[in-house]
Amino acid sequence: MKNQSLNTFIEELSKVWGPVNSELTKKAKALLTDLITNGTEEDWVKDLLSKKEPDTNVYQSEEHGFILQAHVEQKGDVSVPHDHGNGWVLYATMKGQVEMGIYHKVIQPDGTLKVIQKDLYTQKPGQCNIYLQGDIHDTKTVEDDTLMLRLTSCDFSKEVEEGRLIRFVENSERW
Ligand SMILES: [Fe+2]
Repeated sequence: MKNQSLNTFIEELSKVWGPVNSELTKKAKALLTDLITNGTEEDWVKDLLSKKEPDTNVYQSEEHGFILQAHVEQKGDVSVPHDHGNGWVLYATMKGQVEMGIYHKVIQPDGTLKVIQKDLYTQKPGQCNIYLQGDIHDTKTVEDDTLMLRLTSCDFSKEVEEGRLIRFVENSERW
């Protein structure tokens, strides 16, 4: 099948893209939900599932900076709690299941900062969740060949390189 849902997603998101606000996050979530619901039989998805690459850039907007990435993950794959620097992100499940842990920074009585889990939910096919600047989460893949799409507002490798995206590893020197 041709990539009609993917092309529609890119076109429609490009039309409304701008500085983050409630209209944009609502619209981006609706568009990404349409993509993971309607695009499952399209060629680009079949290609991703046959290659099984952990990290693929599906589309990068030269004009706006947003990036649509795909991750094919295996059961037990984890990403430790992290924020997203100055960016924001949508995680969407197309196939399989991922456990999402939600965390919050809490000051302890001794003045130290701890990252505490406040929620845990399973993200199933057709579901999509947004994490804004400052939100902290982790991921744990529950099924083999889980396909996740990630729409990032900017290039997160730069957020890591320049020290803005923080990973909160328990018992590390920093946290
Ligand atoms: Fe993340």
